[in-house]
Amino acid sequence: MSYVDLHCHLLPGLDDGAATADDMLRHARRLHAEGVRDVACTPHVKRDEFPGVPIRELQERVRRAQRAISDAGLGVRLHLGAELAHPDALLLPETDLERISQGPSGRRWLLLECPFDGLDDDFALAFRRLQGLGYGLLLAHPERSAGLLSGDGLGRLRPLLAQGALLQVNVCSLLGNHGLDVQDAAVRLVREGLAYCLASDGHPGSREQTLQLGFHLLLRAGASSTQAYRLTQANPRLLLRDGVRRPLVELERALAAAA
Ligand SMILES: [Fe+2]
Repeated sequence: MSYVDLHCHLLPGLDDGAATADDMLRHARRLHAEGVRDVACTPHVKRDEFPGVPIRELQERVRRAQRAISDAGLGVRLHLGAELAHPDALLLPETDLERISQGPSGRRWLLLECPFDGLDDDFALAFRRLQGLGYGLLLAHPERSAGLLSGDGLGRLRPLLAQGALLQVNVCSLLGNHGLDVQDAAVRLVREGLAYCLASDGHPGSREQTLQLGFHLLLRAGASSTQAYRLTQANPRLLLRDGVRRPLVELERALAAAA
C-alpha cells in the first residue's frame, strides 16, 4: 500500500497537533510502518484559536521535519499545506494564501475547513473568494459540520460540489469517534460517491489513526476495494501531482478579458 494523507497536524509546536519534534518523529514511524508514503502537513490557519502559526515559516518548518524523518530512515514524504478556517479565508492576503496552497502552478488548491457549527453564509462567501482567486477547494471533514444530514447541510454543500468542490472525509469520523451522527454522515458521503478522499486529520498524541485503518473502515462502510483505493491513494495522489482544474469562474474571467 502507498497511502497519501492530505490532512495531518504533524509539524511540531504549532497548533493542537504534535507537541514536540519527538512526537512528530514517533508518529512518522507509525505512518511509515502503516504504508503512508505522502503526507501534507496542514497546521491550522485559524487565528482565533491558533494565533502563533507562522505562515511565512511553514516551508522551512516542513524542510526541517523532512530532514529529521529522512535521517531516521523513514520513507515518508512531506508536503506543505494548511487547514484554512473560513473566517481567515475571508481576510488572509493573497500572498499568504499562495504560501499554503498546494498543487502545480495554475492548478493550485486549498484545504478549507468546514465549520463545526454548520455550513453558513460566511462559509459560502469564503468559498467564493477563494474560487474567485483561482483556487480549487478541498473541503475538510464536512461530515463534522452540524446539520449535514439533519439540517440543510447537504443542501448547502451540493451547489459547492457543482462548482467543483471536492470533499475530504476523516478516518475518525468513519470510526465513530465523533459520534453516531458524524459517522452516519461520513458513511453516506462515501456511499453516495460524494467523498473524493479520506484523510487522517492526524493529531499525534491524541488522534493517531492512519489511512491503513481508514482503508478497512471504508470497506466496512460499503465501499468496494477499488473505491477504497481511490479514496486513500489514487485521488489524493492526483491532487498532489496534478492539482485541480481551474475553477469555471476563473476561466470565465480569462475569456472575458480576452474578448
Ligand atoms: Fe485538521
